Amino acid sequence: MPAPNATEKRPEAGIVLMQRLDALAECSDESGALTRLFLSPAHRRAINRVSGWMREAGLAVSLDAAGTLIGDWPAPSPDAPVLLLGSHLDTVRDAGRFDGALGVLAALDAIAELREAGVSLPFAVRLLAFGDEEGVRFPVTLTGSRALAGTLDARTQLAAADEDGITLGAALRDFGLDPAGLDRARFTGRALGFVELHIEQGPVLERLDRPLGIVSAINGAARYRIGVQGEAGHAGTVPMAGRRDALAAAAEMMVAIRRIGLAHPGLTATVGRIEAFPGAVNVIPGRALFTLDLRAPSDSVRATAWGEIDTALRRIAAEHVVDISIERTHEAPAAPCDPALMDALSRACASVGVAAPVLPSGAGHDAMAMAALCPMAMLFVRCRGGISHNPAESVRPADAALAVRALVGFIRNLVTEGISS
Ligand code: GLV
Ligand code: MN
Ligand code: MN
Repeated sequence: MPAPNATEKRPEAGIVLMQRLDALAECSDESGALTRLFLSPAHRRAINRVSGWMREAGLAVSLDAAGTLIGDWPAPSPDAPVLLLGSHLDTVRDAGRFDGALGVLAALDAIAELREAGVSLPFAVRLLAFGDEEGVRFPVTLTGSRALAGTLDARTQLAAADEDGITLGAALRDFGLDPAGLDRARFTGRALGFVELHIEQGPVLERLDRPLGIVSAINGAARYRIGVQGEAGHAGTVPMAGRRDALAAAAEMMVAIRRIGLAHPGLTATVGRIEAFPGAVNVIPGRALFTLDLRAPSDSVRATAWGEIDTALRRIAAEHVVDISIERTHEAPAAPCDPALMDALSRACASVGVAAPVLPSGAGHDAMAMAALCPMAMLFVRCRGGISHNPAESVRPADAALAVRALVGFIRNLVTEGISS
């Protein structure tokens, strides 16, 4: 098989990819910012746009019961194994245009290139564009990848409600999907593996001056919703001593969380959202709600830190004479990447002239859910300043094109090296 040089024959490849990323970023639920939440009108528009590009590449397009857009390049034989590629279409609020979208569209570019080159593969390729990696709209996440991997707890997941009280089940129905049929989203074939290309979202590759990297493992993560119940009162008449101020208690809790986060190497502890009720300048807050996102490369470090946080929060609640409720809304153990796939990706990077360093992923990915189904691996692409979850997210077109070439080489190598059997 010839060297993976097809992208060199398509010098416009990186440019087209960037144009598509720009076009996809127009699919937003907010004007003037990119916010594309799971099962929103913008998600629908993104699905329509990407479906069109998938069809242009000759893929058979479908949408599964969990809202995952699927582009299939079938194998000559129906019982051939399937190589799964992809990432996600949803975004955080006021997002950058590369997180998730790059992985979907770069994989599509790689597939298009192989098809244009007339390559015939002994396995099928399925491109997956998941809809719920960020877990921003509902207090649950990885709906598409968990449904596909067969690890979704459908009852809990479907009952989760967004801030307007719309449950995930109702939102799926409004999107034209059948929540009762979530089981049908489960992958039942023989999966060779899942490979997710993604921007690094951190500064390591830029500091090492390398465009591409290979992920060793994805950090484990848990998310919590913490409610503090005190007593509302008049801001001018109730003396400071003896108040049951829910927000003051929550503020002390956040300071404790940060202290514990700093005390454990590798741990991250983030309070990303806070609300106070009733939320008026002259009312002592009677209720406060905040979220906690806790991650670590080691599940036991994360468990120890959570134990310390739980104790600290309850102690602070007792000191302020407020009640506390703690709900864990997400839990995903640390997921190691598959050594054989990592090695194959590393050789594919070398074949395009990149000595790709190996690094862990602090960010969560659909690949962590896919690890329950099949071997998985990830290819990281350098981003400017390590900035992500921010509109300033930026990737060089040349790096993106190099990643596509590496993915093309990786797929070709699966054939020549017989990893496909
Ligand atoms: C998703 O990007 C996450 O890591 O939270
Ligand atoms: Mn992502
Ligand atoms: Mn993200």
